[in-house]
Amino acid sequence: MSKATAVLSPSASVENMSIGISADDRGELSKDLTDILTSTYQLLIKTHVYHWNVVGPMFHSLHVMLEEQYNDLFAAADVIAERIRALGHLAPVEGSAPAKGVMDSSAKAATAHDMVNDLIGDHEKIVRLMRKAANSAADKGDAVTEDMLVARLTFHEKILWMLRAILTD
Ligand SMILES: [Fe+2]
Repeated sequence: MSKATAVLSPSASVENMSIGISADDRGELSKDLTDILTSTYQLLIKTHVYHWNVVGPMFHSLHVMLEEQYNDLFAAADVIAERIRALGHLAPVEGSAPAKGVMDSSAKAATAHDMVNDLIGDHEKIVRLMRKAANSAADKGDAVTEDMLVARLTFHEKILWMLRAILTD
């Protein structure tokens, strides 16, 4: 292959990517993002199910608010998965079964109050994962992943404020 042809034919191999982030670092970042993607999907499904099943005086406000939230989570899953691809790794295709085990039988009888409390716990869990991953991305010089995670943290922390406000008398 001539030098010119080589330049025009960058390697498709993950190992030979040259974007200034080592293969090991890209692997670790992709692993963090895969965990975040799985949690995002699980929270998306739970939020959607609660949108359908919420009852009581808070029905309308929660029904509408949860719709906004699951739409945002759905869009976020795409952004996170595509960042994993940009880092040279496959978005999870097996063994993730994100829907499995998300809803336990107690969800059927949950009050609106229980649902909001449950969502607060899940948003807090995802915020902890994202903060850790954002710090790791910063350490590895991956400003793009860090920036994406800062945007996601902003969303989840705003949702936490709103969910807490609902529970305040
Ligand atoms: Fe709906």
